[in-house]
Amino acid sequence: MRLDVVSIFPDYLAPLDLSLIGKARRDGLLDLTVHDLRDFAHDRHRTVDDTPYGGGAGMVMKPQPWSEALDHVVAQGSSAFPGAAERVPTLIVPGPGGEPFTQQIAKDLAEEPWLAFACGRYEGIDERVYEWAGERMPVRILSLGDYVLNGGEVAVLAMVEAIARLLPGVIGNAESLIEESHEDGLLEYPVYTKPAEWDGRAVPEVLLGGNHRAIAEWRHEQRVQRTAARRPDLLPPVAAAAALADLEER
Ligand code: ADE
Repeated sequence: MRLDVVSIFPDYLAPLDLSLIGKARRDGLLDLTVHDLRDFAHDRHRTVDDTPYGGGAGMVMKPQPWSEALDHVVAQGSSAFPGAAERVPTLIVPGPGGEPFTQQIAKDLAEEPWLAFACGRYEGIDERVYEWAGERMPVRILSLGDYVLNGGEVAVLAMVEAIARLLPGVIGNAESLIEESHEDGLLEYPVYTKPAEWDGRAVPEVLLGGNHRAIAEWRHEQRVQRTAARRPDLLPPVAAAAALADLEER
């Protein structure tokens, strides 16, 4: 998979050299390039922002550096796909006003050959950039959650990790992708390791025996209860109410 990230803080993306994502890059599974938006500003101060029309607080990112940066990403990246004329990336713009980023979206994006991320800062990017980009490539505006970050960089770190770990070969033990939160709409069950007793707290008895059926049932029950307690919005209302009532009875 090819990934391009455009930011005014390229150093913010340094963690993408570490751990499993760094290894995936070294193994050739991920081809990731970070671009400095300021390289596409032409004045002495490498200006990428200006005051908002209509007034208001803060600064807005200028359209011209963005169009040049994205033209550059497309031109440079197209040569990495020989034979596929007019190939373009899907452009992802992280922002608190976007569609919620979910595991399903991560899965869908993991199927794509090429993604580009545009990290906004300040009060955002001039709206015309979205129109301009939308005429050239698919554009998705995605939010990490209902809170405001200082810019898109942290969101890109999270999104790239969520997407890249789904690529074949990135995670050594592919089974660990199957039994995890959000895979089937339920949160993950609690896990324990040795010792069997720690700080006066025992590991649930059922996990110590070898009854695999009983263990599977216990884990499923735990997942339903956890989901009802922490994320009732993920369960159908009747199931959530029943699971909560069951919890209160204990
Ligand atoms: N940029 C600023 N806030 C954000 C959020 N909640 N999600 C994604 N990108 C953002």
